[in-house]
Amino acid sequence: MDHQNNQLGAKELFQAQSHIYKHAFSFANSMCLNCAVQLGIPDVIHNHKQPMTLPELVSSLHLPPGKTSSLHRLLRLLVHLGFFATKNVNTNEGDQEGYVLTPSSRLLLKSEITNLSPFARAMVDPVLVTPWQFLGDWFNGSDKTAFETAHGVGMWEFCDQNPKFNHTFNEAMASDSKMMNFVVGECKAVFEGLSSLADVGGGTGLIVRIILDAFPHIKCTVFDLPHVVANLPESGNLNYVGGDMFYSIPSADAILLKVGQFFPWSASVFFHM
Ligand SMILES: C[S@@+](CC[C@H](N)C(=O)[O-])C[C@H]1O[C@@H](n2cnc3c(N)ncnc32)[C@H](O)[C@@H]1O
Repeated sequence: MDHQNNQLGAKELFQAQSHIYKHAFSFANSMCLNCAVQLGIPDVIHNHKQPMTLPELVSSLHLPPGKTSSLHRLLRLLVHLGFFATKNVNTNEGDQEGYVLTPSSRLLLKSEITNLSPFARAMVDPVLVTPWQFLGDWFNGSDKTAFETAHGVGMWEFCDQNPKFNHTFNEAMASDSKMMNFVVGECKAVFEGLSSLADVGGGTGLIVRIILDAFPHIKCTVFDLPHVVANLPESGNLNYVGGDMFYSIPSADAILLKVGQFFPWSASVFFHM
């Protein structure tokens, strides 16, 4: 056997080991973020209106006292990842660490219009995580997407057959799309002069409704798969068309295409375009 690693110094080998461990465990970051949202930690800290100590958090979250040290470890990771920060708090028991929100956790507040909690939660839903575990099989096989390798059907067919997951996914997309408020606010020039626009793969039409609030004169079409747009209420300049974008799309002055291409459920989009 060729022991090439002997040619590397111990320092380099330990750095390489920690690099591997960092990425082997990086799924824990998204899972801990999901856990924080599930427990409602950003909302609890926000409602407290001042830096919140660990015992105050345990009590507000109604956690058993035995979970205090685990919560501390969860928060330590989330502070390290930039989701919370700490400030010194003077208490009767002396100085303690108090947790405060960062811009990222402010974007997870359920009381805010721009709330990415549904997105953070849906992305670690087992339905969406499982295809990642089939990525290698997908490379070796002939399925269009790793989603299909994992679940036996494509993502959009799965959504059609599973209303509960379809709802979770559409809520996630809608929460992400609310960020469009800032695009419309800051990049008005992009929409000036348009009289019609088609949002291809536009989901339930949230982005188009945001655009219409700012530019009510633009005739907007939301184009998506038939089961997504079925029975959605049309009004004024907003209409829905069901179809398959790989066959045809509605004509308009501008086409908006906001779809995820990196994910294993979208590989078909990636490779067809
Ligand atoms: C990642 S979601 C994005 C939704 C929306 N654009 C947004 O950003 O919130 C992708 C969308 O593309 C739609 N879609 C997938 N395949 C499609 C196809 N062949 N034709 C039309 N729409 C499709 C899905 O139903 C889904 O609503």
